[in-house]
Order: sequence, then structure tokens, then C-alpha cells
Amino acid sequence: MTQRTLDGQSYPLPPGNLGLPILGETLSFLQDRNFANKRHKKYGSVFKTHLFGRPTVILMGPEANRFILSTHFDHFSWREGWPKMFRELLGRSLFLQDGEEHRRNRKLLMPAFHGPALNQYITTMEEIIDRYLNNWEKQGSIAWFFELKKMTFEIASILLIGSEPGELTDMLSQWFTELTSGLFTLPIALPGTTYSKALKARDRLLNHIEKVVQERQKHPTSDALGLLVQTRDEEGNSLSLEELKVQALLMLFAGHETTTSMLASFNMVLAQNRQIRARLNTEIENISPKGSITLEQLRQMTYLDQVLKEVERFYPPVAGGFRGVVKPCVFGGYYIPEGWQLLYRIDATHLDQRVYTNPEQFDPDRFSPERAENKKMEYSLVGFGGGSRICLGYTFAQMEMKIFAVHLLRHYDWELLPDQDLSFHPISTINSGSGLLVKFYRYN
Ligand code: HEM
Repeated sequence: MTQRTLDGQSYPLPPGNLGLPILGETLSFLQDRNFANKRHKKYGSVFKTHLFGRPTVILMGPEANRFILSTHFDHFSWREGWPKMFRELLGRSLFLQDGEEHRRNRKLLMPAFHGPALNQYITTMEEIIDRYLNNWEKQGSIAWFFELKKMTFEIASILLIGSEPGELTDMLSQWFTELTSGLFTLPIALPGTTYSKALKARDRLLNHIEKVVQERQKHPTSDALGLLVQTRDEEGNSLSLEELKVQALLMLFAGHETTTSMLASFNMVLAQNRQIRARLNTEIENISPKGSITLEQLRQMTYLDQVLKEVERFYPPVAGGFRGVVKPCVFGGYYIPEGWQLLYRIDATHLDQRVYTNPEQFDPDRFSPERAENKKMEYSLVGFGGGSRICLGYTFAQMEMKIFAVHLLRHYDWELLPDQDLSFHPISTINSGSGLLVKFYRYN
């Protein structure tokens, strides 16, 4: 049956192909980075397919984002949306909660990511960043992506769960890499598979986090986990040990993979665009040439903000968001049935020609106050999601990336090494094939 009825009117299902029984089109989705582009070209901005065992609708464009993230928000579930691997590996954390449970937990987590807490993070971020910059200078040439991953993980684990730098933090980082590899693979838990390694890494991480939580419960601290342990909802209830463990796991996961990807793209783009780099240097020289940075100085760096927005648009670390359809609805004239899965596309939205002039060109001035291209249509810049469930770590991540940029650009320069694969792999977060090989040195 291709026609369905809603509120007395009949609508067709979206065009597209459900592929093979059970497997659907999952393998092509995982292997072909142009999977969705090809189908959008053929069918338009809404099409159906079959991924991870369920019929799926894939949508692109600001109108679809507004529909999913705002006007029809209550038709979709996060928990039912993300594939089984996410539910198993990330547990019942904020990312995979809905309704009242989600509202309560988001409110409890919020103080660690906003207001006075952020100010307290600046010095630690600066110290870690400076230490890494010094080390890279000594090494001379580096695979920057992997170094950035270590750095952002250290920042997240120290500020969010109060770890100490050293071997243990390196080990945790390694376990996270294994866990992340399991998010977008077939969930086959046979010995030696990527997925079974990911499950093992998850257990090790949770064991470690459990010890940290118990320690915090006895001796509260000022890191994000310390705040969470002490936090109470309106009825005076605190989070249970199990809740604290999965929320901490999620914060660590979400807090470094994405930031690494965006910083790697930022560094690559600056190596390729010397004029953009020169403009950033002038801005930094005028506003914060040396010493510790303040939030007020970061706010004044409007060109840095534009460049980061353009990196978010051009190289979004998260390519899209999954949802489960919990109430049937109609979008673009097509019926979207309850029980299906839905994917909204961040990457494709960012290339929409109705919003962005020459979208294939890297041009930070499109976000200048005069042009402000993203203001033409709501939900056209969604690298951090949007609506009431916009990324919880948005301000934390922006602050970390800006502090990194200022400390880096004040003294250091870099060149891309020849003969490397600079193409980007969009699953799960974008990262470069070669690891971004650069010659790194101090210029003043
Ligand atoms: C460049 C860095 C980052 C990017 C690009 C990014 C991107 C995103 C996106 C796209 C979503 C929404 C996904 C959807 O709609 O399905 C999201 C949600 C989320 N992010 Fe981030 N993120 C970043 C950094 C962080 C950091 C640093 C943290 C925490 C330490 C964090 C925590 C979260 C959480 C908890 C959610 C779920 C929010 C909720 O469900 O209420 N993110 N992020």
C-alpha cells in the first residue's frame, strides 16, 4: 500500500527503495559517502530507504529541520531513533532520553555547561592547550588529528570527570576510540569484531567511571561530575549511580570526538587560506595579544566567530540526526508512518543554494553582519542541532575552540606535508584520512 490517510486525507509514502530484506540499504549507507546525495538527486529532498533493520525517511533542508527540531518535535523520539549500537554503547544517557525524563536530566546537567562554571574552565583549558602546543613544537612534525583527539579528550576528562593527565587518561582515550568505532558498524558481537571490542571498551569505561562517581559521592569536587553528584531536581531527588555513570560516559564521548573533528578542519583550512589566517592574526593582536583570555575578549573576536561558523557549515562534525517516528505525520506532501526511523541531514542543509551563495566555496564573510546568510532561513545552520535540544555542550565547545585558536595563532605556524589523503570521512564524526600530517613550528 503506497497511500496512507491522516486527518481524512490520503498521502503517498516518500519515493525511494527499501532494498534487500532485513539488510535494506544499510551496507551502501555505511560504505558509500554519496549514498544520500545520489538519492536526493533522484527523488528530491525527501526519500525512503531501509537502514539498520528499519524503514527510514531521509530529509534535507531548513524546512525539514524546522519540522523535526521545532514544530513537530513531539512526533519524534531520540531513543527510538538512534540505531541499536548507540543504545547499547551509550546507555540510557541524555542523548537517548525523551519527554519528562530528558527534561529533568537536561536541567540537572545544564549548570556544568553554562554560566559561572564556564569561567572556571578557562585556566585549565589554557594550561592543557599550551602544554600540547609546546610538545608539538618539540616534535616538529605531527599527525594532528590524533594529537587533537588526545588534547580534547584530556580537556574533557579533566574538566568533566576530574581525571589527572597521564597514562590512565591515555588509556581512557583509547577505549573511547574503540567504543566510537562500534557506533557505525554492524552490531555483530562475535569475538574479534569491531562491535565486540566496542562493547568491551564500554564496560571498561563504565567500571572506571563508577569508581570516580563513588569517589565524588564521598568527596564532592568542582568538576562537572562533582556538580552532577550534588545536583537535586525540584523534588530534591539526585541522580542514581547508574544514571551518573551513563551521563558521564556521554559527556566524555560527546565532549571530544566532535570538537577534535572541527579543530582539525579549522587547522586544515587555515593552512590552505593564508589571507583568512592573516585576518585572524590581526584580530587576535588587537584584542588579546598575550596572557590569559577572558570571555569578554572571546566575544569581541567576531571574525574568529565567522570562521568557526564557516567550518561548522563546510565540515559539520555530525552529518545528521536520527529520530524514531512516534506519531504519524506528513512532510512535503509525503506520509511518514509511526514506527519508522528518520534522519535529518545537517551536511546537505549546509549546501543549500537558496541559503548560501556559492555553497561549495569556503567563505567566512557569508556570516558577516552585512551578509548573515544563515539568517535568510531558520534552521539553515545546524551543526550543533537546533531547537530545545540543541547541543548541550555548544558554549563549552565554542569556548574551547576559540581559546585553542588564540593560543595557537599567537605564536605558531604549520604547513601541510605533501602526498597525504586530505579527504574527509563523514562517519561517525568527520576525520581526515591521513590524520592531517603537518610541519609545526613557532614563528615568534
Ligand atoms: C564541535 C563540537 C560539537 C558539535 C559539532 C556537536 C554537535 C551536536 C549535535 C549536532 C547535536 C544534536 C544531534 C541531533 O539533533 O540529533 C548535539 C547534541 C548534544 N551534544 Fe554536542 N556537539 C559538540 C560538542 C559537545 C560537547 C563539548 C558536549 C558536552 C561536553 C556535547 C554534548 C551534547 C549532548 C549531551 C547532546 C544531546 C542534547 C540533548 O539531547 O538534550 N556536545 N551535539
